[in-house]
Amino acid sequence: MWSPLTLLALALLSIVTSVRACPNGAGYPVGAGSIQSPNYPQNYDNGANCVYHISASQGSRVMITFTAFDTEACCDYLFLYDGPAITSPVITKVSGVKNGVSFQSSGQYMTLLFTSDPTVNRPGFSGQYSSVTGPTPSMGPSTTGTPSGTSGPGIPTPPTISSNSPDYNAYVLAAQQLTQSINVKADPCNDFWSYACGNYPASSPISFYQADSNNLVIQATQIMKPQYSQPQAPLPLRQTVWYFNTCVAAQNNFGPITQGGTIVIQALQAFQQITGLPFPMLNQNQNQQNWPSANTIGTALGYLSGVAGVDTLLSPYVDTNWADPRGSTPYFLYVDQNSLMYPKTYYQPGTWEQFQDGFINNIKATMTQLAGLTGKTLDPTTLANDVMDIVKIELALARNLSTDDTTRRQFQRSYNPTSVSSAQASYPFMDWTAYFRQLSTNAPGSVPAMMNNPSFTFSVMETTKTLQLGNSFQMGNPYGFTPRQFVNYLMYRLVDSNSGFLPSFRDRRLQKKLYSPPMGKTRYIILPEPIDPEKFENKDLTSAQMECTQETLNSLSYTNARFFVDALYPDKGVNIRQAAGGLISGILSGFQSMLDQLPWMDDASKLSAYGKITSLVKNIAFPDFILDDAQLTAYYANLNIQQTDSYVTMLNKLSVFNMATQFGYLARTSGSDRTDFNGAPGIVNAWYQPELNSITFPAGILQPPFYHPQFPASVNFGGLGVVAGHELTHGYDDQGVQWDGVGKLSHWLDPSSQQGFQRLANCVINEYNGFCPLPGNYTPNCIKGSQTQGENIADNGGIHASWRAYKTHVALNGPDPRLPDPVLSQFTHDQLFFLSFGRVWCANESPAQLFRQLLVDPHSPYKYRVFGTIQNFPAFQSAFHCPSGSNYAPGAGKHCNVWVLDN
Ligand SMILES: *[C@@H]1O[C@H](CO)[C@@H](O)[C@H](O)[C@H]1NC(C)=O
Repeated sequence: MWSPLTLLALALLSIVTSVRACPNGAGYPVGAGSIQSPNYPQNYDNGANCVYHISASQGSRVMITFTAFDTEACCDYLFLYDGPAITSPVITKVSGVKNGVSFQSSGQYMTLLFTSDPTVNRPGFSGQYSSVTGPTPSMGPSTTGTPSGTSGPGIPTPPTISSNSPDYNAYVLAAQQLTQSINVKADPCNDFWSYACGNYPASSPISFYQADSNNLVIQATQIMKPQYSQPQAPLPLRQTVWYFNTCVAAQNNFGPITQGGTIVIQALQAFQQITGLPFPMLNQNQNQQNWPSANTIGTALGYLSGVAGVDTLLSPYVDTNWADPRGSTPYFLYVDQNSLMYPKTYYQPGTWEQFQDGFINNIKATMTQLAGLTGKTLDPTTLANDVMDIVKIELALARNLSTDDTTRRQFQRSYNPTSVSSAQASYPFMDWTAYFRQLSTNAPGSVPAMMNNPSFTFSVMETTKTLQLGNSFQMGNPYGFTPRQFVNYLMYRLVDSNSGFLPSFRDRRLQKKLYSPPMGKTRYIILPEPIDPEKFENKDLTSAQMECTQETLNSLSYTNARFFVDALYPDKGVNIRQAAGGLISGILSGFQSMLDQLPWMDDASKLSAYGKITSLVKNIAFPDFILDDAQLTAYYANLNIQQTDSYVTMLNKLSVFNMATQFGYLARTSGSDRTDFNGAPGIVNAWYQPELNSITFPAGILQPPFYHPQFPASVNFGGLGVVAGHELTHGYDDQGVQWDGVGKLSHWLDPSSQQGFQRLANCVINEYNGFCPLPGNYTPNCIKGSQTQGENIADNGGIHASWRAYKTHVALNGPDPRLPDPVLSQFTHDQLFFLSFGRVWCANESPAQLFRQLLVDPHSPYKYRVFGTIQNFPAFQSAFHCPSGSNYAPGAGKHCNVWVLDN
């Protein structure tokens, strides 16, 4: 008899890209295909009868998933015949909304006959099929129904996994990881969070960090292997080893590095030398009477961003050319609004009061120490006034000279191509030529010449705010800024960004900055609070080794990845790409099936949406070039780290290299690289990049507890699957619909579909507005539904897509055995799907961490990511047999339907 287990590893669902026009459909290759009624998704009832042939070898098991199949009328059926002609025996007849029809072939062809009824006028159907070779079935062609061997009602409970199974160890691991967090004494229907996470260890940060910690150990262990120090090892790998060793030594003896504050003092001197500006806050006998010249302002802002690496009043970055990513200028420079010392949301009225004292005291302490190191004593009253002026500037920049995030969700308004010379005419407060001269200091090759040309074109992202900024730096400005305050502010920003090199700030370490991608803006599924790698739980490495491995991940992302991949994938990633790729493709089908059924999305919008799915680039695990020694060496050709360099020299060279990498994109001339990972393969995260229409799943997240190729499907789909669905959904949210399939700005949702989407979004905004994790003495204490809507919608869409893919997988492959554990073996796999999902977000957060999250994070706090999502998903109610009206199963009409029909 056919055994479901033998097929587990073979399952591969995918959508074929072409839309098949009927009645000319030829046979599909064995494997996978898509079938669509004529003119789908417009009306199919054009009177044509259609026949599709699907070739599948004898004994193949063929799975057809219908994403939409509308059959209210009498005559709409799909007949599946066994054989090349419609005179062949009928295998099955499909009617009604179907999902997961499965049957076995006894012959060479599956024939799909579709008979349309000219009298009806409705949307048609679309479906996918895939075939998997299995043992020859013992029975002959059946005439109707589902063959035995599939899951479904009446199928006996699967047995617990046998200890002889090759998957046994992975099942044990899955059981251990779930056991670590679940608390079966809680009531799943009313408090699923406690049920899934009640025993999650209090000492442990969120599961992402556990995976981070495991990954860092794998990376460090590999970096320390002697083979990479040999002269024949590729240079960038040897450089990484040198950096790692130098970093560890420095971390273990940091005193000499910070001694005397030399690094901070030198940074200030270099800045003063190039700008000629004083620092009256440090040298109280100095002053700045007049506004610095436009040339000095341009030099100062360009130097801070392009040389010192700190963005202040303007924030330049490189991204694709949004309007024309396929053309001869595929990348563009964007000059964005200011960047501040804290995230912008901290400065809002009502919130700022809670941070103000800490902010002020920090500046005072920093300046007092710096003064001491340079042999000065500061008059406390003057210092206090100067500090308040810095606060004043920060507040005005945040509250008056920045556009809010909601407005900024519209990308088109920030795409404003301007040449240097016309920017000079529009924004004369600064000399743009001087600005670009400094900004391009570390740009490679031909790029500085390009940027220094008056016709160089870039985008001023916030035109109105840039005008207002210019007006603020002249006499009589509405904010009362003075020249003295202006120069103190810029000087202090440089001190602040280097304050990790002051003796008393040793505990801040150096690379506390969030990891940022080579190009574009960070768009990650979580925004992790920067956490000290040394706090990661680990038994095997010292804290300095953990810290320094993290630093290689941040600033040598692709060599770090090479070590990681060498350690993880002896087969160079073939297996993980196939396995994880199959899971992800299944989720694309699941998501497409959801879109298909949406009554509020019009046909043209659906076609655009499918186009985006079809042309989506899937980056899995790591980019190929890192395994090719020559290509890896070429990528790092301009990295100039020597074995004898000091730690600080190495840091500077890395900073220069990473700036050069970013500006280097501007030299490209033939289309954007849509396969660009644009992030560290070793990181535990995943991202959708709308400007590339790509999703990226780095090797770091293709690890337990999110994923293991041999975990039961339920655990993988509940973990990585939901993450994948989440990322995909971002392609269709309020920001995603502004971009087409190749990452070009183009709005494709028609106005009435837009309204349908807005209703969906409003429901989610209201729902999450009602979640208040903190007591009322915090402002804010509730989730801001509008700030988190994009992520909440993606969470909800993601779990639906993953659930559908999981169900399809089980229908195709049969049920997995149960977990080998006395408690966990009692759970069905449907229940395990939800437990795995909950487990991903288990966390122990202090009120301070929650508060920070409410302020800055576009994601809801973890508990509510689970609560909100499950509340809206009735499949949970069925899986746990919850009474309608429980907290987690509020019942029909009492929850939001996100990307799905009412359910
Ligand atoms: C700056 O914004 C605040 C509100 O955040 C407002 O009260 C103030 O009037 C604004 N100042 C100017 C000069 O526009």
